[in-house]
Amino acid sequence: MSYFKILGLTQEPFSTSPDPVFFYEARAHKTALTNLIIELRLRRGLNVILGDVGTGKTTLSRKLIQALSVREGFLFHIILDPTFDPAPTLAEGSTLASCPYAKVGAGEFLFLSSMVRTFGIEVGPNATVLDLKEALKAFLFKTGVEERKTLVLIIDEAQKLTEPALEVLRILLNYETNEYKLLQLVLLGQLELYSRIITIPNLTDRISFKYTLNPLDEDETREMIDFRLRQAGYQARSGLFTAGAVKEIHHHTKGYPRQVALLCHQALKQAIMKTRSVVDDKMVKDVIHEEVRNGWSVQTPPKAASTQMK
Ligand SMILES: Nc1ncnc2c1ncn2[C@@H]1O[C@H](COP(=O)(O)OP(=O)(O)O)[C@@H](O)[C@H]1O
Ligand SMILES: [Mg+2]
Repeated sequence: MSYFKILGLTQEPFSTSPDPVFFYEARAHKTALTNLIIELRLRRGLNVILGDVGTGKTTLSRKLIQALSVREGFLFHIILDPTFDPAPTLAEGSTLASCPYAKVGAGEFLFLSSMVRTFGIEVGPNATVLDLKEALKAFLFKTGVEERKTLVLIIDEAQKLTEPALEVLRILLNYETNEYKLLQLVLLGQLELYSRIITIPNLTDRISFKYTLNPLDEDETREMIDFRLRQAGYQARSGLFTAGAVKEIHHHTKGYPRQVALLCHQALKQAIMKTRSVVDDKMVKDVIHEEVRNGWSVQTPPKAASTQMK
């Protein structure tokens, strides 16, 4: 029997996959989500969300799609990792070696190919950089003007975007009508994304909304734990984690949601093994000590983002 069923839950409460059902709207997450929804509805172009590993960027993007998919007229495309995406994108029958841009401008060609594939645009096998740009431009006008759709491209792990790729995105953001941009872009990435973007001044100027996701404070940590337990089917009035346990969890994880989820998962398993119905601070400490003893010390999260980009 799954451990969560023993606790009377219907689902696993502390999975670390980016399921929007478990998305708790902490202050930072709510601010980011609300602003992104507004910006996308107004079709203002470029949005940038920064945050350390495990602060909730990917989960936020899933929540954003969920929130906007109920509205008509939005088309979402996601690139999960811009490093690995380009490889299979060369048109059938053409190889990078046979590409005239193999040496110069390969990055641009590959990224354009990746975009064309992401949007499902058909191009010939020998399409050049110019052809790909034209195809993308035509697609943006067809979708945004003729079909009146809001086309949203979300790029996760955007700190991996190369300079040629950022340059391609800058060009695509130039396409607009008198009232709105034809491509809505949401870049989610670790803090170094910002230093990459500011090297391209014309791209920095185009940022409509930028925000840094910082970790949770202690109250939010408690609320996130409660929220996830409720979402997983927990119904009793008293919590599964004592106030002391939450304090310990926050102290150890510094409020990084991924670390919080991992530690809560371990602590709940301990509770079951010890046939206890509540997790207290001693049990949390025991889990942490156990991990340290086994050389699996719960990874200390990076320091909270010091540059609040607003
Ligand atoms: N706002 C949130 N509410 C609840 N859980 C969250 C939240 N943000 C993140 N998490 C949890 O932390 C994990 C890591 O989040 P993720 O979105 O993958 O972070 P990032 O993309 O910034 O590395 C998620 O799988 C989820 O379980
Ligand atoms: Mg992520």
